[in-house]
Amino acid sequence: MRPGTLDFDQQMMRRALELAARGIAQVSPGPLVGCVIVAEAGEIVGEGYYHYERVRHAETLALEQAGSRAAGATAYVSLEPHAHYGRTPPCTSALINAGIRRVVAPIQDPNPLVSSKGFMHLRQARIEVSIGLLADEATRLNEKYIHFMQTGRPFVHLKLAISVDGRIATRTGDARWITGEEARARVHELRHEYDAILIGARTAQVDDPLLTERSGRGRRRPLVRVVLDEHLALSPGSQLARTTGEAPVIIFTSEHADPGKVAGLQERGVEVIQGAGGSRNLAAVLDHLSQRSLQSVLIEGGGRVAGAFLDARLVDKASFFIAPIIIGGSDATPAVGGTGAATIAEALHLHDTEIRHHGHDIEITGYPKAVTSDE
Ligand SMILES: NC(=O)c1ccc[n+]([C@@H]2O[C@H](COP(=O)([O-])OP(=O)(O)OC[C@H]3O[C@@H](n4cnc5c(N)ncnc54)[C@H](OP(=O)(O)O)[C@@H]3O)[C@@H](O)[C@H]2O)c1
Repeated sequence: MRPGTLDFDQQMMRRALELAARGIAQVSPGPLVGCVIVAEAGEIVGEGYYHYERVRHAETLALEQAGSRAAGATAYVSLEPHAHYGRTPPCTSALINAGIRRVVAPIQDPNPLVSSKGFMHLRQARIEVSIGLLADEATRLNEKYIHFMQTGRPFVHLKLAISVDGRIATRTGDARWITGEEARARVHELRHEYDAILIGARTAQVDDPLLTERSGRGRRRPLVRVVLDEHLALSPGSQLARTTGEAPVIIFTSEHADPGKVAGLQERGVEVIQGAGGSRNLAAVLDHLSQRSLQSVLIEGGGRVAGAFLDARLVDKASFFIAPIIIGGSDATPAVGGTGAATIAEALHLHDTEIRHHGHDIEITGYPKAVTSDE
């Protein structure tokens, strides 16, 4: 098979997406990008993916590997190549100078500095440009980057482990462990994809969690741990406060929080953010995180925090890990607190759901959306 046939092009674009995914936890707040260079006869002559610390872009790395074989070749790039001077010179110039004949890319870069300018630059140099192949897969892969670029806010993913009767803890607050080992290993994989992890004050108190990532894979920046704690209840002796040397801890709290408590936590290296609505103003919390270039946040409960984010329509993606156990009890913590829907018609629907099995547990992941009357 040769470049230009649909099957071949799809296969190469899948490879470019696979390469791009190797940059997970290495590129934020930048995009994941993979590139494959294929000579006219169909042979792969160069591959590369973006890795922030290596500075050079996927296209440059792939072109370096290809050398003179790039002349007349097709470049499969998982995102529009950029045409501006950033940390590196324009990738479009590198593709043009190498003599690339055709560029295949699934989607435009949402970054206003780059968007459509890369394709324009390539076309001006008479390079054939094909856009749209595996666009859904490419969009999904870079959903955090795209959301961050388009909204200026981090992408928010809610994750909860629940019983079949929709509880996240028993009436005494016990939640360890609702799901089995396989599901918990998957959660560490999820943590690996995120820049920050966020919980509510009660979860911090009851569970005393560490909230570090234990996927065993490297990351460019440590996972930032965030607690919403209006009354500043977190103890300086908690696991979070004792491990600020390993990964940062940020607490959002009221401007009226006890100065003695603030000082005690600060001594431990905890960053205490007061004012601008404290922990209650979720939009301000997200804006603060985006100012620190945190592109994505994984919310790990509890139920009240989950409800507050869902009520505010600030959850972009949700994963429920459902264990085949029944907790029962009117006082057991519900998975989602807050105000919720008044009628079933107002309930949020999960779109584009994916279902996976982890041992005895079932993961349902989707994108929550309100259903409007025209749908
Ligand atoms: N199965 C699971 O996946 C899972 C995950 C996490 C937790 N849990 C369990 O769930 C229980 C805790 O859940 P929970 O619902 O009781 O509490 P939570 O959501 O962890 O924390 C709620 C508290 O966070 C504080 N808070 C600060 N800002 C907030 C905001 N904007 N919105 C909402 N809350 C805010 C409030 O206390 P202040 O006013 O004092 O700040 C609030 O009472 C624990 O038993 C824990 O073990 C289970």
